[in-house]
This record gives sequence, structure tokens and C-alpha cells, in this order.
Amino acid sequence: MLDIQKIRNDFPILNQEIYGKSLIYLDNGATTQKPNIVIDKINSFYYKFNSNIHRAVHYLSGKSTEEYEKARETVRKYLNAKSINEIIFTKGTTDAINLVAFSFGERFVERDDEILVCQTEHHSNIVPWQMLCERKSAKLKVIPVNDKSEIIFEEYEKLLTKKTKLVAIAHVSNAFGTVHPIKKITESAHKVGSYVLIDGAQGIQHIKTDVLDIGCDFYAFSGHKIYAETGIGVLYGKENLLEQMPPYQGGGDMIKTVSFRKTVYADLPLKFEAGTSNYVAAASLGEAMNYINSIGLENISKYETQLLKYAETQLSKIPNIKIIGTAKKKSSAISFLLKGIHHYDTGAILDKLGIAVRTGTHCAEPAMKQYGITGTVRASLSFYNTKEEIDALYRGLLRVVRMFS
Ligand code: ALA
Repeated sequence: MLDIQKIRNDFPILNQEIYGKSLIYLDNGATTQKPNIVIDKINSFYYKFNSNIHRAVHYLSGKSTEEYEKARETVRKYLNAKSINEIIFTKGTTDAINLVAFSFGERFVERDDEILVCQTEHHSNIVPWQMLCERKSAKLKVIPVNDKSEIIFEEYEKLLTKKTKLVAIAHVSNAFGTVHPIKKITESAHKVGSYVLIDGAQGIQHIKTDVLDIGCDFYAFSGHKIYAETGIGVLYGKENLLEQMPPYQGGGDMIKTVSFRKTVYADLPLKFEAGTSNYVAAASLGEAMNYINSIGLENISKYETQLLKYAETQLSKIPNIKIIGTAKKKSSAISFLLKGIHHYDTGAILDKLGIAVRTGTHCAEPAMKQYGITGTVRASLSFYNTKEEIDALYRGLLRVVRMFS
């Protein structure tokens, strides 16, 4: 269905050799490559429009502001949020989660309240909650997963009580690719009056995300994982909650009036956007979403699911491979270990073959502890990857096995 060669031509970085071998980029979970349309947007910004936003009456400032706010509307539509007041630009997912941990925490969390996170979360969806719990003398509780790395739903429901203030969980686990049942998780949490934050860093680029359908209270993601520039991210939050939360940071652009007696904060969404936002990166995010829309996220999802299945089938044939995280519903990542071979060695040899994968804990140490391992090799896919690249990974891994046998 997708013309992959045509798509690959949109991504100039893919067309190069590393150590004399064609680059095979399978580290899309860490960051994605950028299509020409996004690179052109960034260039044209600096060639034509660059000026600070929301600040001046001159033409360039108006143009920059228009591009920035146009991107906000594109994000709103992409997420199916009700209002642009619910779309806050941040530096990335981590910044968005820290914003909620601080501002939601200040307003809603009290001593002995409980925050639930999943065993396999990325550190950025653990540490901000630990810091909040320390500040407020609240408790962090952990939703367990089974040996496939799926959440144990009955155990999750047992953890939900009137004390639960927030459930924070990934849409898709970055370490193992598990797609969590976020709509069901949200429904259960709401029954006890808890709020829900979804870390969408690994979900937004692969799975259609409709925040109204999911019903979540917050959804956070990063631009650079969805084919846009680094340094931009988004926090979606329900308007009535954002209204009640105090600002995260103070400074320019987040105020209506300032005096030494009293400062009046700006209305949403600017209340949470202190200082000069990364407006060029925001415009690049709008452009990246337009690009995805032009291909169709459903088409992308379908293709990536087929590619993941193909990768699982091929890699399963390798002697002594152990795939870690075998959930029924997975998206775009395959984590594995070769028996007796350190993940770092596997990654280093693949690199010399031109194949880029990630090795280590994937910023999810508690997830690794669950399996009693120090890390994995992770191949994370995008719709510009091909079956031929998976075959090259397969041959590369056979070579690693031979070298160590
Ligand atoms: N969170 C990114 C990853 O999973 C960096 O690789």
C-alpha cells in the first residue's frame, strides 16, 4: 500500500553509507529522522520569518506567531482535543510530565495520597512522581506486569482506591513495545476519582491517538520522535484541570500584567509557556504532522505492524535469541538478547555493519530488574524501514552469534 521507496526519498539522511555499508536505521524509538518537508520548514523559518512570537507588532513577529499558533491548531486536530487551550507546547515529554508533576501536584496532591506508575515506565515517568511524592509525603505505587510485559489488570484494579490521585502510564512501553490498554486503564481510574496521564512518547507516531476517545486527563509527547525537530513537545490537558493548576514556571509570555503587588497570569495555553518557546521547532512539528496526515496514520500503523511481525518471525529463527517483552499487542519495537553475548557487544558489531540499534536499559532500569537483566538490544522501527533491512539485521545477528561461538 505504501510506496516505501518514495517515502525513503523524503528522508535524505537514510541515503548514506556508514563504514562503507548502507545505513540501516533501527533506533527510531530514541529519535526519528526528518523528512525534507520538515527540514525545509526549519530553513524557511530562518531564511524568511524568524522573529520572536507574541511580542511585537512588526510583520516578522506576526508571521512567526501565525506559524506557531497554526502548529498548535494542527496538534489539536491530530489529537482530537476540544480546544487549543488544551495544547501546551513544552520542551518535550519529560518537560510535559514534570509540568504536571509540579502544577497538578501543587493543586491536587496531599499527604498520603497515592500515584500509580507501571513497572516498565521510562525514568521520565517515574522520577518526577517520586519527586512529587517526596515534596508532598505522598506514596508511589507500582502496577505490576506479567512475564510478557503486559500489565496485570486485576492487580492494577486492586491498587486503585480513593487515595489514588493519578495513574501515569505509557501508551507504548519504550523498552519492550507493549501497547497498554489506555482506554480501559483510564475508565477504571476514573471510577475511583483518579486522574490519568499517558506518556505518549512512543505512541503518538505509531497509533491513532484520540484523547476524547481515550478519556485521559493528560497526554504528553515529544516532537523529535514524530519526525519533527528536537526541543519541542506537547502536553495535552483537559481545560478545566489546566485552569485549576498553578503555572509551572514564571516569566515573559505567561502573564497578563505584572506589578510588585500582584501579577495576573495569562489565560490558557500561555499560562504554561513562560519564556521564548521553541517556535521554530513547534512549526516543524506542525509540518511533520501534516506529512503524516498526507500518508495516513492508519496506513503507517498497518505497515509498521506487518514489519514488526516480520521482524519477530525472522529474529525468532536465530539460535539462542531471547525476545524480551512478548505482549499480545505491541508496536514497532523488538527487544532481545543473544545468550552469552553482552547487549553492548551485539550493538557494537551491528554498528560496524551499518545497523543502528539501541543497547542498554533504555532509561527503564526497573523494567530491566523485572527480568533480572542489565539491558537489551532494541530494534525500533518506522514506516521508512523495509523487510530488506530486517533481513540485514537477521544476517548481522547470525554473524554476531558465529563470532562468539
Ligand atoms: N526514550 C528514548 C528511547 O527509548 C530515548 O530510546
